[in-house]
Amino acid sequence: MATDRITTIKLKEMKAAGAKIVGVTAWDHVSAKNAEAAGVDIVLVGDSLAMTMRGDPDTLAITLADMIYHTKMVSKACLLSMVVGDMPFMSYQVSAEQALINAGRFLKEGGARGVKIEGGRRLAAAISKITDAGIPVMGHIGLTPQSIHQLGGFKIQARTLDPARELIEDARCLQEAGVFAIVLECVPAPLSAHVTTLLEIPTIGIGAGSGCDGQIQVTADVIGLTDADPPKHAKRYTNVSGAWTDALRKYAEDVREGAFPTEDNGFSAGDDLQSAIDNGTL
Ligand code: KIV
Repeated sequence: MATDRITTIKLKEMKAAGAKIVGVTAWDHVSAKNAEAAGVDIVLVGDSLAMTMRGDPDTLAITLADMIYHTKMVSKACLLSMVVGDMPFMSYQVSAEQALINAGRFLKEGGARGVKIEGGRRLAAAISKITDAGIPVMGHIGLTPQSIHQLGGFKIQARTLDPARELIEDARCLQEAGVFAIVLECVPAPLSAHVTTLLEIPTIGIGAGSGCDGQIQVTADVIGLTDADPPKHAKRYTNVSGAWTDALRKYAEDVREGAFPTEDNGFSAGDDLQSAIDNGTL
């Protein structure tokens, strides 16, 4: 559990010490405060919020301005956890220069302490430019949801030998480009465990088995924020959606039956006002 501010150096030390790194997503001040209170190490303002919070079918439509707006709310809540802003689709692919400018905005305007970028060696030049400017970058390979149309959907990646070798090459290139950690999403567990032994930097898995240096999960899945079944790689630890809906149902019942509000929930009038109402002179 975090008691000092989490830095990229601390994360590397955790890998060396065999201490598991814990990451979750957050999208606003409340979700970030709860993540920080739970002592998680990394709070990712993931672009999955497009799906979990906005009801989008994928992560493609969310903009840089949207992501910075959410990152600002999260950063204000996190004094110890490391806040990482997820660079959205088309904010880093066009040129290394544009990627650097946009990454900088997550720190300057969003208050983040790092950014995450999806993709392997094709992104190495842009990532080097960003890390050279002193901005921590988290890599993300395996299932990269911003490329779902190229990948043919949300599918497990690198199940066979050639794609697995490509993934290893991507991981090495990202480490070389200076990333402080790599998210491995929906990758066979034995491959993730192998990649983890090859790298000096931490691997953070989601649907990638227990052999990674850490895990990251989408908070909506962990807390049951909607009634949708969590994906196979997630575990629901509580049912916030159920508790939330029950509370609202009870409130609606009370309003309809006149059981809420009671006198305790209201405010009395001043004496002169009350007399005027009682005397019919208002
Ligand atoms: O946007 C997201 O939620 C992610 C996951 C890897 C946690 O990128």
